[in-house]
Amino acid sequence: MTRILMVCLGNICRSPLAHGVMQSKLSETEFYVDSAGTAAYHIGNAPDKRSIRVARDNGLDISHQSARQFKVSDFDTFDYIYAMDHSNYDNIISLARTNEDLKKVKLFLETHPSIENKNMPDPYYGDQSDFEYVYTLVNETCDILAKQLQA
Ligand code: 4NP
Repeated sequence: MTRILMVCLGNICRSPLAHGVMQSKLSETEFYVDSAGTAAYHIGNAPDKRSIRVARDNGLDISHQSARQFKVSDFDTFDYIYAMDHSNYDNIISLARTNEDLKKVKLFLETHPSIENKNMPDPYYGDQSDFEYVYTLVNETCDILAKQLQA
């Protein structure tokens, strides 16, 4: 079983989309996908309505997800930890205990071949079109990641 964790700040906008999209592209028997936030603001909350909506518009139900905070033991549980932006990346890295932990942490958009800004834009203060753009980037990146992980 390969275990993948998607991480953003609040775990209500970006990482729930990456979690749902990635899960939909991988076999449940071989891959476990989860998400978390580096901050504690939204623990226990469902994803933002706008993330639920863009996912639903693309045939995915993420409404059952519940926000949780990233914890040090996630380094033990997961094989790959994908940060949505540099700030999340730095926050995760600051909790790493060993070189082994460090090696698990990647910037999600490093996989995207044509987007130069490797920070997934934070849509929280935006509108539905910002969530649609995040969905597009998440979907394109997950397509590539899923192929790489299954190879
Ligand atoms: P996320 O977006 O990190 O993609 O879940 C945010 C959610 C909440 C806040 C900021 C970003 N907040 O400041 O509460």
